[in-house]
Amino acid sequence: MRRITTIAGLICFMVYSNLAAQETSLTLDLTKPAANVSPRLYGLMTEEINYSYDGGLYAELIRNRIFKDDGKSPVNWSVVQDAGGKGNIILDHKNDINSALTTCLQLTVEDASGRVGVANGGYWGIPVKPSTAYKASFYAKATDNAVGPLTVSIETSDGTVKFAEAQVTLDKGGWKKYAVTLNTAAGIKPTNLTRFVISTKKAGTYWFNLVSLFPPTFNNRPNGNRIDIMNLMADMKPSFLRFPGGNFLEGDFFATRFPWKTTLGALEDRPGHPGCWSYRASDGMGLLEFLQWCEDLKMEPLLAVYAGYTLKGDHMDAGPFLKPFVDEALEEIEYVTGDIHTKWGAKRAQDGHPEPFKLNYIEVGNEDGFDRSGSYEARFTQFYDAIKAKYPQLQIISTVGGRDPLGMRFNVKTSTPQVVDEHYYRTAWEMEEDAAHYDNYDRSGPKIFVGEWATREGSPTTNMNAAIGDAAWMTGMERNADHVIMSCYAPLFVNVNHGGMQWESDLIGYNALSSYGSPSYYAQKMFSTYLGNQVIAITGNAIPVQTRHATKKDSAARVVPKSIPALFYVATRDTKTNMLYIKVVNASGNVTPVTINLQGVEKIASTGKITVLKSDKPDDTNTIDEPLKIKPQEYDIKGIKKSFTRKFDPYSISILQIKLGK
Ligand code: AHR
Repeated sequence: MRRITTIAGLICFMVYSNLAAQETSLTLDLTKPAANVSPRLYGLMTEEINYSYDGGLYAELIRNRIFKDDGKSPVNWSVVQDAGGKGNIILDHKNDINSALTTCLQLTVEDASGRVGVANGGYWGIPVKPSTAYKASFYAKATDNAVGPLTVSIETSDGTVKFAEAQVTLDKGGWKKYAVTLNTAAGIKPTNLTRFVISTKKAGTYWFNLVSLFPPTFNNRPNGNRIDIMNLMADMKPSFLRFPGGNFLEGDFFATRFPWKTTLGALEDRPGHPGCWSYRASDGMGLLEFLQWCEDLKMEPLLAVYAGYTLKGDHMDAGPFLKPFVDEALEEIEYVTGDIHTKWGAKRAQDGHPEPFKLNYIEVGNEDGFDRSGSYEARFTQFYDAIKAKYPQLQIISTVGGRDPLGMRFNVKTSTPQVVDEHYYRTAWEMEEDAAHYDNYDRSGPKIFVGEWATREGSPTTNMNAAIGDAAWMTGMERNADHVIMSCYAPLFVNVNHGGMQWESDLIGYNALSSYGSPSYYAQKMFSTYLGNQVIAITGNAIPVQTRHATKKDSAARVVPKSIPALFYVATRDTKTNMLYIKVVNASGNVTPVTINLQGVEKIASTGKITVLKSDKPDDTNTIDEPLKIKPQEYDIKGIKKSFTRKFDPYSISILQIKLGK
């Protein structure tokens, strides 16, 4: 529950009753826009965490498709032995297909009087939906006595019901790729209590590799993304995508940094790599797939390049030993932006995308403030100089030098960044307390990229209290959107199954069958979609305050918690459409009447709209079973004048949409 104890409640009550004598008002001065809003203010941040791609956005349904997941026996694979059938499975390292596909699954069928096969349960189930075409493919070979038909099926976990089935004829000879489409019937009920099976009724030995199963994907892209999750993101209208991390960029060791080169081309050439969030990455979501994700959602890529620091604390000092990493970053930029006559632009064309991608921002590393050796300044400078020499138009982002807790803690400086990345992970109270954080930033310093931020309340996805903290924080970023030029929440995704989450309080949750947005998701969607291009000067009067109860730490230090605002606000105007957006966040449990004064307005439409996200209790939330418990509601409003009063609901985020006249 939110922050009220008897004493704190009393303080709150006294403060409210004091202020109740005065009228809470917001006065907007439309004669002088306070700032221009950066067109990239709201974007997305992503990395392989919480099964974001494998078991998440990346639509592949087979888990451990090339058998490299850690373990002596085949992880996530099991043997099927029906009615008298007998067989076993082991990992085989002697039957390479190429340098990426070095481990395969060996099935020995001893007794084929009943069906024998290999089964994969996917990422907590294979999503079975009606009238759906699934594309299955795999490499296989068999001893000569075993060639013949194989049955490929999607079925219930116990094999009693088959939802889709097809035969492939296994030829004599070595490795060969087989592909088949599995179609489900119209009438079936969606389920994920399922498995994928390749089976036989012939004794002998079989080998399998790169076993893959794809449902329909967004924009029908081969090797593409889940449609439902892409649609959730599209609705947020994000302007950019920061990738591939986060910690996932860095890796635990040099050898496990994001290996962009081996994430390119055919899946046959992608060995995957150990991720840093406790599971192996298939790298099916490779560099080109990130870029196509940007293309599909009309986002600008914001590429983070590896900068010579590992999560386990190792680093490469600036100088000749860092040069290979700098060269690798230059090649990566060429892959993204080079024309087809460049080496890496030609590789991109060969991978199916001749058109270069537009790139404006490069981030050098991730959270290098953790590098206690102090090597970042020199590393950054080496990257900066090399990138600028070849790509003078690119804006370079430093991961340190900001005024976020990490930046402040280590006070690492870089000499030349054009933009610094700040990260904030906090409670709702801390977000609200610091909502004016950017109001007094020095405009002559580097621009600010809030590259990771979140109110961390609620699990696996955030609750309404977090959404209110987020919204309060966003009012501050938006008010300063001339200087805070980009922001993106993290983490973006979580697979809500047990074992799917490494980092709690995430924005979008899913299982194999469905996905949903947290209250924080809806808060961001609202902020990003109702956004003008000019910040309007706004002054609050008699703003209600809230007081939290004392923590053990406060009591020990004999500190009485201070009061902070309970109402947060920002306004922007779209000069093209002449729409005015007033965002008001009510963090209190009280209905709060606010008089809105619009100064410098000639004409105004008397009717407008208000979009409201609210809940009765701040710890209310959305879940996979109740995905839309909290969602924005839109209402018509009347009686808009140059001065009018509107009541704001308890625990609510509201956006007034008002049409201005000339
Ligand atoms: O968002 C989760 C992690 O938090 C990111 O990988 C890292 O950059 C930060 O510490």
